[in-house]
Amino acid sequence: MEQWFDVTKRIEASALAAAQQAGLDTEVFTADVRPADPRFGDMQVNGALPYAKRHKTNPREIAQKLVAALESDEAVAAVAEISIAGPGFINFRFKPEFFLNWLKAFSSEEAFRKSASRLYANERVVVDYGSPNTAKQMHVGHIRSIVIGEAICRLLEYCGAEVTRDNHIGDWGTPYGKLFYAYNRHLDEKALKDDPLGELERLYKLGSNLAAEDETVLEECRQELVQLQAGEAESMALWKRVNELSIQGLKEVYDQLDVTYDHYLGESFYRDRVEAVYQELKDCGLSEESKGALVVFHPEHKRYAEQPFIIRKSDGASNYATTDLATMLYRHEHFRATRIIIVTDDRQKDHFEQLDLTTSKWFEKTGRNRPIFDHVMFGKINGDDGKPIKSRSGDPIRLKALINEAVDRAYTIVKKKNPNFPEDELRNIAQTVGVSSIKYADLSTNRTSDYVFSWEKLLAFDGNTASYQLYAATRIQSIFRKVDPSDLENLELKATVFETNEEIALARKIIEFVGAIQVTIETLRPHMLSTYLYELSGVFSTFISADKVIVDDPGKKARRLILCQRTLLALKAGLSLLGIKTLERM
Ligand code: ARG
Repeated sequence: MEQWFDVTKRIEASALAAAQQAGLDTEVFTADVRPADPRFGDMQVNGALPYAKRHKTNPREIAQKLVAALESDEAVAAVAEISIAGPGFINFRFKPEFFLNWLKAFSSEEAFRKSASRLYANERVVVDYGSPNTAKQMHVGHIRSIVIGEAICRLLEYCGAEVTRDNHIGDWGTPYGKLFYAYNRHLDEKALKDDPLGELERLYKLGSNLAAEDETVLEECRQELVQLQAGEAESMALWKRVNELSIQGLKEVYDQLDVTYDHYLGESFYRDRVEAVYQELKDCGLSEESKGALVVFHPEHKRYAEQPFIIRKSDGASNYATTDLATMLYRHEHFRATRIIIVTDDRQKDHFEQLDLTTSKWFEKTGRNRPIFDHVMFGKINGDDGKPIKSRSGDPIRLKALINEAVDRAYTIVKKKNPNFPEDELRNIAQTVGVSSIKYADLSTNRTSDYVFSWEKLLAFDGNTASYQLYAATRIQSIFRKVDPSDLENLELKATVFETNEEIALARKIIEFVGAIQVTIETLRPHMLSTYLYELSGVFSTFISADKVIVDDPGKKARRLILCQRTLLALKAGLSLLGIKTLERM
């Protein structure tokens, strides 16, 4: 029998073939396949209703024609019963054998991965995430781009894409004048050694305060910047040093979060590449002078008719738009990217919309293939008061401190639950639980909404949290620790067909894994996967309380062990796509 990995896609294909066979207008017909209300079936085709509306006919009649055609399709008839509900919903109820065969075929992580990896094969994607400005600490707001971006990279790789992780650091520009001014006059060597990013941040703030108070300081800061931009040896050496320290400091945090970049091609990397951008945009007639600046208008867009994309400032300097245009070109030419994804907060929406518009026109006029571009944006992290979260002193909370606090808090909770675990293991669990909880809190909320940061909620063992999911995984592993090894031999041969409602509900949920991956990657919204995993853990929990696994009947025992194994597979794979490692026990 043919193996249906992706049930949704397979039903879609059958429904389309059925529509053709039934003589429907296939230009208009879309299957619209979704999970069904379990009372009526497992999957549902909803396309008869909108189709009938368009053609002003009876939806039930359309549904009947489709069902007749579907029933004559042997591959479909072999695995499902088809019925019509309400005004014309077509329900597929899979036979219990179908579920069992599906689960038998997907017996390992590799089997899942192999099938999924067909989805985005041949895609080369550059993902630009994290991307902080250098010479300062990362604060809590930076976490979103890192964890959302990393989840997207993992999902794309899982689906077969070749992914380049690029950290587009902000390592060039006006702040350096003020920083260098203060560095050259007020550096605290010891502080630089102990806490490089802290000291650089202090110096930058000092420089900008002094410049704000005193015109002559401001002028000296400008001179520092001029020297840097002219590439003077001393300035360049200092710049290099600051950058090395910055990247080193950033990497400490990335290590904690289990994120590794392929490149740190920041703004400075593109500073020699901006001339070509001016030239090309001028040559293809896209840019024009306006009030001394070089700009690109997009008059067809109401929003940007008045507000052009400024690509060179009136003082002749390049800006964020220029380096980003050069970045688009480089990613196209050097990485041969078929797709570019940039992950930042939603305040940069206009910038990236204009960047995309400008790049499309530019590439079209120059005969280049334009990569697909996605600006993946996200909202704010708020405190209890609904305002962006701050520390008690009013400063932003440092990301490093936040992670450490999460690990400390997790330690207290885990130690209380398991006072007898060895100290090493407790530390290790606390590290995983702490870091995962912060990541998961972010990934379980729709990225475009703001979310409220709460230690209690984030570290709780119930609700859609990392601890809940990690605990669900350890519970399944503990079942395997208790079974006799001989029970695990030849499970697939011994298993008998599912019977109870809980068995079938769980099988159905596991099969949805593929669809969950797909919508997550199509929408680039990791919370879709998180929601699925939460539901999976819930259905598993119902199953395990209703159906004993270690029973005398060998066929029943084997099929229930299969359910446990595949749940664990999906849970582990799904969590790891979200950047979360599972534990043996906790
Ligand atoms: N450095 C920017 C910031 O801190 C984000 C850069 C995002 N990437 C890009 N190619 N513009 O907001």
